[in-house]
Formats: sequence, C-alpha cells, structure tokens
Amino acid sequence: MKKLLYCTLTLLMFLSQAQAQEKKIFNETDQQKEKRLGWWINDRFGMFIHWGLYALPARHEWVKHNERITDSAYQKYFDNFNPDLYDPREWARMAKAAGMKYAVITTKHHEGFCLFDSEYTDYKATKTGAKKDLIKEWVDAFRAEGLKVGFYYSLIDWHHPDFTIDRVHPQRPNDPKDYEKLNKGRDMAKYRTYLHNQVRELMTKYGKIDILWADFSYPGDHGKNHDDWNSMDLIKMIRKLQPGILINDRMDLGEYEDGGDFVTPEQYKVAEWPTRNGKKVHWETCQTFSGSWGYYRDETSWKDNKQLLVLLIETVSKGGNLLLNVGPTSRGLFDSRAQDRLNGMGEWMKVNGRSIYGCTQAPEGIQRPENTLLTYNPETKRLYVHLLDYPLQRFELPGLKGKVKYAQFLHDGSEIKMHGTDKGDLALDMPVRKPDAEIPVIELVLQ
Ligand code: GLC
Repeated sequence: MKKLLYCTLTLLMFLSQAQAQEKKIFNETDQQKEKRLGWWINDRFGMFIHWGLYALPARHEWVKHNERITDSAYQKYFDNFNPDLYDPREWARMAKAAGMKYAVITTKHHEGFCLFDSEYTDYKATKTGAKKDLIKEWVDAFRAEGLKVGFYYSLIDWHHPDFTIDRVHPQRPNDPKDYEKLNKGRDMAKYRTYLHNQVRELMTKYGKIDILWADFSYPGDHGKNHDDWNSMDLIKMIRKLQPGILINDRMDLGEYEDGGDFVTPEQYKVAEWPTRNGKKVHWETCQTFSGSWGYYRDETSWKDNKQLLVLLIETVSKGGNLLLNVGPTSRGLFDSRAQDRLNGMGEWMKVNGRSIYGCTQAPEGIQRPENTLLTYNPETKRLYVHLLDYPLQRFELPGLKGKVKYAQFLHDGSEIKMHGTDKGDLALDMPVRKPDAEIPVIELVLQ
C-alpha cells in the first residue's frame, strides 16, 4: 500500500514538473498574465478593420495573389487611392454603438502598402491622395470613443523587393525549380530589418497600443517560419516597448507556452473551448460578414443579423472573444451592408450586453436546454439563457430547482414567474408572444 502511494506521488510530481517545464520566453506568472489580459477577457467583442489598396479592385484583399498581379500592374491602385470621405470618428462611433469595445486595424496588409507614415518606405498613405498618416488619426479617434486599439501588421509583404518569393507570393512560379532563379538578388535579412524597424515605429510612435496582431507564418516548403521573421527578437522587442500589450499567435512560436497570448481560430466555429496540454487557453475567433476581409463589392454571401449574434453568443458560451471584420470602401466608408449588420448587433447589445461582457462558459453541471446558448458571469453569479428558438409558454431548465433566486427577461428587466417541479427542474412561465428581440435572453440570478 505504502509503495503504491509512493509510486503515485512520484508520478504526480513528475507530471506536474513536465507541465511546469513547458518552454517559456518570458518570466511572467499565470496570475500576471491573467491581469494583463483582464480587460480583453471582459470585453469579448471587437472590430477588425481591413483597409488598404485592395479596396479599389474591391474583389478580395488577396487579389494580388489570386490574379498574380505584378507590382507595376498593381500601381494604379496606389495612384488612385484617395479616401476623401475617411472619418475615423464615424467608424469609432459605429463600432461603439455595435457594442464593440476594442478594434484592430491593418497598418499594413500582405500587399505591403502602409496606412501609417513609416520612415522606411514610400509605399504609404502619405504619398497617395490621402496625404496623411491614416493610422495616427484612427488611433486618436478610437481612443476618444473609449475603445482599446490594436494594430494588425502583415509579416508577409508582396511589395518589398527583398521579400523572397514563396508559395503564396503573387509571382510564385509554377515550377518549383524556378524559385532560386526568381529569388536572385532578394535578401530576406534586409526585409527582416525592415519588418523590425516598422514594428518598432508602430510600438513607439502611437502611444499605448493594446494589441499587436501579426499575420502570418506558413512553415514548410517554400513557406516562411519564425526564422524568416526572427520572431523571438520581434516578440521580445514588442513586449519591451509595450509591456501591457497582447500579442496573437501567428509568429510561429507555438513551441513556447507564451509565444502568443491567445489562439486565433479564423472563419470557423470551434466545437469547444480550445486547450493546450489539457489546459483551457485564451482564444479569439476572427470572422467576416461575407467571406473576404477587404471590401468586396460583388460578394453576396453576407451573414444576417441573427447568424452574427449567434456567432457572438456562441463564442462567449465557449469562453472566447469575437473580432468581427469590416472592410471599408476605398472612399473611406463602411458600406450600407456593413452598417446594417452593425446596427442590428448594436440594437441587441444595447439591452443584452450584460450576457456578453464579463461572461464566459456556464459552470460545469449546468445543462443546456435545447435551442439555447448559455453564458455566465462568475462575478455576479448570473446565468444567461439565450433563446434561439422561442419556446411555447412553459420552459424548463433541468436540475435548477431551488438554485435560482430570481428570473427576468434581460431586454426589459421584466419578471418571469418560476417554480420547481417534482423532478427537480425549474419551470418558467413564458409569455406566448416572443419579445421584440432577435434573440431573447433570460437572466437567472443564481443562489
Ligand atoms: C488570413 C489572411 C488575411 C486576413 C487574416 C485575418 O490569414 O491572410 O487576408 O487578414 O487571415 O485573420
């Protein structure tokens, strides 16, 4: 018996050491990390903005890749870029009204065009009809509305002459043998310096930055990995210059536990809260209204308001954040389809935001009734039942008899009468008429 106990203890110690030995870059405790990420975990809902020269062709931000466009053929978009209606205060107000609490904008996307006034290139907004640093104004406007600000920065650059041609480059060859010939004279070391210099500018010239969203790595044949970016030095520099910043997970530093602050499932719904070595990790899903990130005039695959709300609620019900994208037009406006979606979400969030902010997955053991999504606020001990399909009069919550102090609709704070059943469930008397909310929410104050 003693021997068994001893063996078990040694095994447990070994296991906990193995866990503790996950490789780390920084010496920050879990507690310190939770504190650094606190605002973001609470806020749950942010706006992604993809804006660049690709708003002119208006057929996907990857148009240069998709159509294998050369630099000289792409030049007309630079020459004609003139966002005369750009008013970032308007954008910030719309983001805020939609219930979003933070925003992340493309300072440079894969095409290489910089919306900010970088001293390391002329391929930037100040040299176009815009004639100004679009990022500077953006930061000021979003800050003024009380939103947190984040920078997306593309590690990839399809315009820089030293960025080597790889398998996603617009000038990729059909025959792999041609890579060498095509890359003669291109020097990734020089591009790396450019990349680090630009990130340093972004981290020093715009005040406090809350998020750095680097994009992206694609290791393997004719791909790019952490060595190409020198991700280790990059992440250290970013954290040094902006100690409070949050960084996503796309620099290919996945072998380190802290090589990114959160994982970024893109354009799909996760089946459950993502984990690493069995431990739940922070996550943010980034999603579009219609498929592409940049403004796409002829795209018809727009999600409707209910789909978008379900996306948001479901994300929070699994402990995650939603970064929802807008692709402004080349004139600098959110088009009517985007405005319509933002308004729809804002209308709902105005009265139901309490089931999103500060909320997370419901405690284990609470059963989810059919056609509902549950979220939970651990501080206020309130459980939120989102009714995706409005029930008929009697609505039962399994096992909750005696566990709920009070029940009400969230949108109007009106009482819902309740009583326990013989089976130990909680039965709610619902009005026959569905309230005027896209997805009505029941707020349960737990004992
Ligand atoms: C992808 C795409 C890109 C987009 C990004 C957003 O990696 O390359 O166009 O900016 O996802 O997550």
